[in-house]
Amino acid sequence: MAFRALILGAAAGGGLPQWNCGCENCTLARAGEIPRQTQSSLAVTGNGTDWAILNASPDIRQQMADAAPLHPTGLRSLPLHSVLVTNGDIDHVAGLLTLREMQPFTLFATPVIQAVLKSNPIFDALHRDVVSRSSIALGVPFELAPGLMAELFPVPGKVPLYLEGERVETGEIGENTVGVALSGGGRRVCYIPGCAMLNDDLRTRLAGADLVLFDGTLWRDDEMVRAGLGAKTGKRMGHMSMSGEDGSIAAFRDIDVRHKVFVHMNNTNPVLRPGSAERAEAQSGGWTIGQDGMEIVL
Ligand code: MLT
Ligand code: MN
Ligand code: ZN
Repeated sequence: MAFRALILGAAAGGGLPQWNCGCENCTLARAGEIPRQTQSSLAVTGNGTDWAILNASPDIRQQMADAAPLHPTGLRSLPLHSVLVTNGDIDHVAGLLTLREMQPFTLFATPVIQAVLKSNPIFDALHRDVVSRSSIALGVPFELAPGLMAELFPVPGKVPLYLEGERVETGEIGENTVGVALSGGGRRVCYIPGCAMLNDDLRTRLAGADLVLFDGTLWRDDEMVRAGLGAKTGKRMGHMSMSGEDGSIAAFRDIDVRHKVFVHMNNTNPVLRPGSAERAEAQSGGWTIGQDGMEIVL
């Protein structure tokens, strides 16, 4: 059976358009001149039948309604086997609240992220007797869904925004921000929606992958500052940018990866505009710009 990935949401937190944003892209998206994108989520299967969702975005209700392979097959039977979250950010966990209604699935996350969810009683809307919460240690393979193995690995990042203290370590290596290595259908796939820096461990892990879906938050580090939207750089948010010498396009140039796809794009990112010079530059670097509903079959 083939490995299949379905991009449920290609945008970063906020989506495109973001509710309170009047930037160029958001304005174009509202006007229907560029495609809208929902928030960060990916569905994957190794056997074509049983699916896992990686990150539960606030848009998950609409995303599942739009994704035929995830539709109920009976009164209360779903092809959804599990949900895994790669960090505790709101764009990746808020959708869990939509998945209540006594529907069984397994919720996978690192022990640290499980503790974040456990400390917030609103997530008890996912009844403990129905949704089993499974803590997954880094580097230990587990079955994500029938026919699909996974392993979590640390990615330089930070704690969720709502847990930031006065000092924030943005390149922390630990259980707060992880990537997912998937193997199924004879393929090897890595999903890394947030990454502050591509270190040697990551380079080694990514080499030879059939598919990498990677953090495409910003085109340039000071993009939001230049757009007049705030003081935060990509680095401060724990995201490496696409362009520049220390960007992801350059970093991947000498890594052997068959398909490279950007996901988790912020609404300010010019690659979200079809026809932009930045989009063409990313594509000529061998990248596909992810978009809602895009399916990748390996
Ligand atoms: C991020 O990816 O940096 C976060 O999702 C930001 C946020 O929580 O709004
Ligand atoms: Mn995010
Ligand atoms: Zn915007």
